[in-house]
Amino acid sequence: MLLVWMAAGCASGASPAEVEKIAAALGLEPGMSVADVGAGDGDFAVELARLVGERGRVIATEVEEDKVRELRELADARGLANFTAVLGSQDETGLAADCCDAVLLRLVYHHFQEPAPMRADLRAALKPAGLIAVIDIVPQGGWRLLPGVPDRGGHGIPPEQLLEEMTGDGFEMVARFDDWNGDDERFCMVFLRRPDAGGEPPP
Ligand SMILES: C[S@@+](CC[C@H](N)C(=O)[O-])C[C@H]1O[C@@H](n2cnc3c(N)ncnc32)[C@H](O)[C@@H]1O
Repeated sequence: MLLVWMAAGCASGASPAEVEKIAAALGLEPGMSVADVGAGDGDFAVELARLVGERGRVIATEVEEDKVRELRELADARGLANFTAVLGSQDETGLAADCCDAVLLRLVYHHFQEPAPMRADLRAALKPAGLIAVIDIVPQGGWRLLPGVPDRGGHGIPPEQLLEEMTGDGFEMVARFDDWNGDDERFCMVFLRRPDAGGEPPP
């Protein structure tokens, strides 16, 4: 299994099948600038760095300083010159305005304690035709509730609620995948920043 995985170009904990789906959903191409917000261990961010190549750029964000340090160590260990790690906060991504052709939010939106300012910051970070893929999970009753996070019926977020929050705040859904990666509790929605929404956060 591991050999198959490595042969497919993935030397991390990210499954090649899911990486391929993310690349297709976001239309990733060499040379693009992509952010992985809430990158965690960086498994997907390193695959994004491989896909966008040396002319491209990946910005991995985290809210925990230790994780940012580990992401930097990971990039150094892999020799990834196109990979930077930045510290965000609960209401700021840490991304510069207009920095990204695409943004990945994998299993992180439901962790946001301040989703509205995060959405505003994500709008600002996306270039005008940029896409954002939100991969998430329906509320899991048995999982621990995340402190400080809006109560949406458990650990996770119902897809219709994500849709309402994003489309109510300047994003237009352009693709939706239920049963994401063969898991009927996960889904992926791809959004475009609505042109009338502007890029700057509201006052
Ligand atoms: C379930 S993990 C997902 C990690 C990774 N995206 C993945 O799919 O493997 C959620 C991550 O989001 C991070 N996180 C939580 N709130 C965040 C925020 N406001 N901005 C950035 N990262 C955040 C957490 O520290 C954690 O590493």
